[in-house]
Amino acid sequence: MRSILAGIVAALAFALPAFAAPTASLVLHADQPGARIEPEVQGQFAEHLGRGIYEGVWVGEGSSIPNTRGFRNDVIAALKRIHVPVVRWPGGCFADTYNWRDGVGPRKDRPTRVNNNWGGVEEPNAFGTHEFFEFAELIGAKTYVSGNLGSGSVREMGEWIEYLTTPTRSTLGQERRRNGREAPFKLDYFGVGNEAWGCGGSMRPQFYADLFRQAATFLRPGSGPTLRKVAVGPSADDYAWTEAVMAGAGDQMDALSLHYYTLPTGDWNHKGAAVGFDEAQWIGALSRTLHMDELIVRHTAIMDRYDPKKRVALAVDEWGAWYDTEPGANPGFLFQQNTMRDAVLAAVNLNIFHHHADRVRMSNIAQMANVLQAMVLTDREKMVLTPTYYVYDLYQVFQGATALPLEVQAPNYALGGVSVPAVHASAGRGLDGTVHIGVVNLDPRSPIEISVKLEGVHATIATGRVLTASAMDAHNTFEAPDAVHPVPLAKTRLRGDTLVLVLPAKSVTVVDLK
Ligand code: AHR
Repeated sequence: MRSILAGIVAALAFALPAFAAPTASLVLHADQPGARIEPEVQGQFAEHLGRGIYEGVWVGEGSSIPNTRGFRNDVIAALKRIHVPVVRWPGGCFADTYNWRDGVGPRKDRPTRVNNNWGGVEEPNAFGTHEFFEFAELIGAKTYVSGNLGSGSVREMGEWIEYLTTPTRSTLGQERRRNGREAPFKLDYFGVGNEAWGCGGSMRPQFYADLFRQAATFLRPGSGPTLRKVAVGPSADDYAWTEAVMAGAGDQMDALSLHYYTLPTGDWNHKGAAVGFDEAQWIGALSRTLHMDELIVRHTAIMDRYDPKKRVALAVDEWGAWYDTEPGANPGFLFQQNTMRDAVLAAVNLNIFHHHADRVRMSNIAQMANVLQAMVLTDREKMVLTPTYYVYDLYQVFQGATALPLEVQAPNYALGGVSVPAVHASAGRGLDGTVHIGVVNLDPRSPIEISVKLEGVHATIATGRVLTASAMDAHNTFEAPDAVHPVPLAKTRLRGDTLVLVLPAKSVTVVDLK
């Protein structure tokens, strides 16, 4: 009897594929190119908040932490490797109280202020205008400055722009030169306020639209081809804000912002923990982050009525995961760990932005260092790269790529009445012609086999890298900085026009087809 059973098992093992995971079918339409995925879609946000700037980027020239003119070498090198395309600075809510004059001139003479938004700590103003632009030049990023419309004035913003950009020998131009900068700075984007509906002035949208019009009239760069003005857009699903601001000022702006944070529970009082969470908070975070797609679709539909040619970009200039503060940490500093869940969440959002590349032409994840969903975490002289960093590393091939349609038919991953697609993906043709597919397995327990029918591309080589981990909250620490990192993709099968590969549970993969 035992030998008959053994024979049946052996026969089954021979007949069945070695791997009996669930499967998903994808169809890539490489012959239907869409919009360009602007590099700025992988932008960052750096606010004077907690250790985001001080220690995260700036340690000062006298620091024992290795630095270049005050900027920490390890962070600069890490950010250069992922080709950060643009950085938004100095806030956030901090920008709504910031006076740019506090941050220019000899450092020893700069005033100390109180950062009332974030912990009531002293703001030394050691990192100011010149430091920000030098930092952007060091990492090769474009610049996005948020002006203070909330508690500042149009005159202040106009003078800041003149100081930054004038090639003339005006008093402000000469002041810039005395402060060490002969040539105008390259200012690419200027935000006319931040969260004007909240920390930026508690305004109503019609009032903000009028203020935007007034400000836009006077905010003229002194040199350079363009300055793109970003208007304060909605918080999450505030469609009435988009309607009113587009109606009142749509013709004056180059971009409208959107802010949407992912909370695993959806409750600002109990957001959920960054580590040590259960599977309900895994799927809770992912289902809520998928809501980004609906937000973009519905805000875009409103924008389309006022701007059918899509001249105005939607700039998702604050987004990411926001968890409860770690026990013992300063609640005003928004420091949180960053796990495999954050990696999956980041890749899902980048995929969504690729799907809407014709309208979403910038995004700025919150935030770059030591704050919320960060790229890097630092502890004095130590630095770790987060799982989110590695997603940006994998996805940098999409910067400047042409979006390609990708149909996905996948089973759902469900838990406790919440259900999400197990597979989420996007595709693009890179500048060198290589076709890239970014694909995420949202299921934390089960691998999934995907087969991708390739239409409009003949590929003979499929390579790539995958980011995965055994635990949902796997993360890198200062003691074990390399626990989560991408590895080369082991097995792909490319047969004729079909690519087959297995996505590990809870993973982010980028495949390159040549
Ligand atoms: O990113 C943290 C804060 O979130 C920003 O300062 C603010 O604009 C938003 O509410």
